[in-house]
Amino acid sequence: MTASRHLVFASHNSNKTEEIRAILGSDFVLDDLNDIGCHEEIPEPYEALEDNALAKARFVYNKYGKDCFADDTGLKVEALNGRPGVQSARYAGPAKDSDANMAKLLDELQGKTNRKARFRTVIALIVEGKEHLFEGIINGTIAEKPFGKEGFGYDPIFIPEGYNQTFGVLDAAIKNRISHRFAAIKKLADFLQ
Ligand code: IMP
Repeated sequence: MTASRHLVFASHNSNKTEEIRAILGSDFVLDDLNDIGCHEEIPEPYEALEDNALAKARFVYNKYGKDCFADDTGLKVEALNGRPGVQSARYAGPAKDSDANMAKLLDELQGKTNRKARFRTVIALIVEGKEHLFEGIINGTIAEKPFGKEGFGYDPIFIPEGYNQTFGVLDAAIKNRISHRFAAIKKLADFLQ
């Protein structure tokens, strides 16, 4: 029997931590920032998801000396030249209000026929001081208005390719199998196995 591997996920979001624990399985003991007593908000000041994920992982590695990973996600809408992108969380302002973010995006898309969009997650992993990057993407389209209450963020307006309902309507189990975050975490898990 091999010992479980300990990893820190550089996030305060317990929902995400649970989602990732389920993907990584019992070979890993995953602590997040709440578990290790880190209550600071780690800055994400960069224009690239890679740079923000690396900054968060380096912060934890340098301060706590633990193997760790961090993620950063953006929604890129083709007709908006890739916006909101790295600004996804704060698109409508610093309050990180999902309803306001969706309203702004839908407003900007009014009258546009191209509604193609993609979520992209980047994960930065630091193991024994070595840095690794993993990416996960899901393509889809933006609905005309919000549907459903599942998930978070832009889920009520994102229709993943191959489906005709938004992530807000689709079962969480379906989302967790096909999402950008799942794809990136799966690559991380395969790498660590
Ligand atoms: P984060 O890097 O995971 O915090 O994601 C940044 C922002 O992108 C979030 O605040 C959400 O607005 C949006 N986002 C990230 N992942 C998802 C998702 O799975 N569904 C809907 N919105 C998401």
